[in-house]
Amino acid sequence: MTKTNQNKLKESKVYNLNKITLNKNIKTFLSIERDYAEPWNKENFLMDMPYKWQFSKYITFENNIAGFIIGSLNNKTVSLHRFMVDKNYRRLGLGLKIYQEFEENCKEKKGVEKIVLKVLAENKSAISFYNSLGYGIKEEFEYLRIKRYLMEKHIS
Ligand SMILES: CC(C)(COP(=O)(O)OP(=O)(O)OC[C@H]1O[C@@H](n2cnc3c(N)ncnc32)[C@H](O)[C@@H]1OP(=O)(O)O)[C@@H](O)C(=O)NCCC(=O)NCCS
Repeated sequence: MTKTNQNKLKESKVYNLNKITLNKNIKTFLSIERDYAEPWNKENFLMDMPYKWQFSKYITFENNIAGFIIGSLNNKTVSLHRFMVDKNYRRLGLGLKIYQEFEENCKEKKGVEKIVLKVLAENKSAISFYNSLGYGIKEEFEYLRIKRYLMEKHIS
């Protein structure tokens, strides 16, 4: 990472995501998904899930919303439903920064034992990113004829 990017990264900030902010900025959130193989639509983003607004975050970079994590909590397990950084802002450390705050948040919530997520088997970069964060593959499955992994990390 260049010195300039390192300095800019310091100015990036992670915020809790609530439904009002999400609704107000929905076009930005949809545009961050623009090149993804299975993009979410507005309804996917706004759907209520248990504890969603306590386990979702967004990150800003150069005063723009640059990425987000959408999570929810069910019976001691946090599900990381969506994690994305805008294509223009990848490999700057933003993904790691928002993830670390998300995990910290999970650890602070009493009773949370693990974080789980699903990833496309072909998404090698995301899998190696999750491996480096301590996730392991729990299960392989197929959905819509596409191979995917269920990954998990124990945090307590
Ligand atoms: C996965 C994702 C969120 C990572 O965000 P990011 O801001 O680019 O990640 P960071 O810059 O913080 O990278 C952290 C580390 O992860 C690893 N990593 C990230 N992207 C990688 C890639 N394309 N190839 C290999 N390693 C990668 C590297 O070790 C990297 O550290 P380094 O840049 O110092 O080498 C981002 O690539 C993304 O939005 N991908 C598309 C959506 C997606 O696949 N989401 C996950 C599906 S469940």
